[in-house]
Amino acid sequence: MNRVVAFAPGRVNLIGEHTDYTGGLAMPMAIHLGTSVSFTASDSTEIVLTSEREGSPALVAVDVDDPASLEPRWARYVAGVVAEIRPARGGTGAVSTTLPVGAGLSSSAALEVAIALALGFDGSPHELAHACQRAEQRASGVPCGLMDQLASAGGLAGHALLLDFETEHVTGVRLPDGLEVVAVHSGQERTLVGSAYAERRASCERAAELVGPLRCASLADVEAISDRTIRRRAHHIVTENHRVLAMVAAFAADDAALAGEILDEGHRSLRDDFEVSTPVVDALVARLRATPGVHGARLTGAGFGGCAVALCEPGALDIGWTLRAVHGASVIDS
Ligand code: GLA
Repeated sequence: MNRVVAFAPGRVNLIGEHTDYTGGLAMPMAIHLGTSVSFTASDSTEIVLTSEREGSPALVAVDVDDPASLEPRWARYVAGVVAEIRPARGGTGAVSTTLPVGAGLSSSAALEVAIALALGFDGSPHELAHACQRAEQRASGVPCGLMDQLASAGGLAGHALLLDFETEHVTGVRLPDGLEVVAVHSGQERTLVGSAYAERRASCERAAELVGPLRCASLADVEAISDRTIRRRAHHIVTENHRVLAMVAAFAADDAALAGEILDEGHRSLRDDFEVSTPVVDALVARLRATPGVHGARLTGAGFGGCAVALCEPGALDIGWTLRAVHGASVIDS
């Protein structure tokens, strides 16, 4: 029986938060921290995966029909992928990861993408990302967008990715020389992400009912929304799309100071308009921002805890993870 080993990177989102499910723009990059899954198929009808991080294995029938009910919880992500790709045979395998779990660096997307490849998924990076997005939604019940899975499946070494969620077009954006990308964990585990995420998404959908697709809305359209909460949520989305384009221009001009300002503005928007930051993350961002050599910093990922991302001069920060942009997920041994 052949053993297959697949690796899927996590991602850090540089700018463009909560824009994916509104047909907007984002600029994540696939990172060298990621998840490996080794798998050997057998004649069994069950998939058994162990994880060095988890006390109990995931036992998933190949015909599983209710991924969200499984225990332990991490088995739900395995089951979500199995339910999407319906492997013909079961087997046994092992998961290992260098990603912090639940920290805003897409550990769940990396797990899904690596499992799908290890179980024999055969398709384009876009097809892989869509299958794994559906798997995540089945497993967690959270109506997540496509960004995490697309960044993990479609990464480009040395590049951030300009993702357009209207066309699903992926464009590599070269990272400026001498600009370091550092993620630092706030130490705060993310809480209430599921219900608050769904609530934010519903607010954006309400805003789009009022003013049309937020991708095309102007700031004047947004100002005309009478409900204060919906208006602020829409204000974040519209200004965040502008910030993604401004970041592409700042990188093209090798303008690290401008790139940093865009991060700072992005954080204020997430904190004040979208209200997905926390006092602990705000304090971390302020501390990073006050460190010499740091150009800018912000919350990264869905929010409610997790990591901040900073752009800085090489060596300016001696905490967190200095991230390298890597190629997307692949089978590394078979
Ligand atoms: C989570 C979701 C993504 C995206 C981000 C916020 O990571 O899985 O689809 O919406 O939050 O930008």
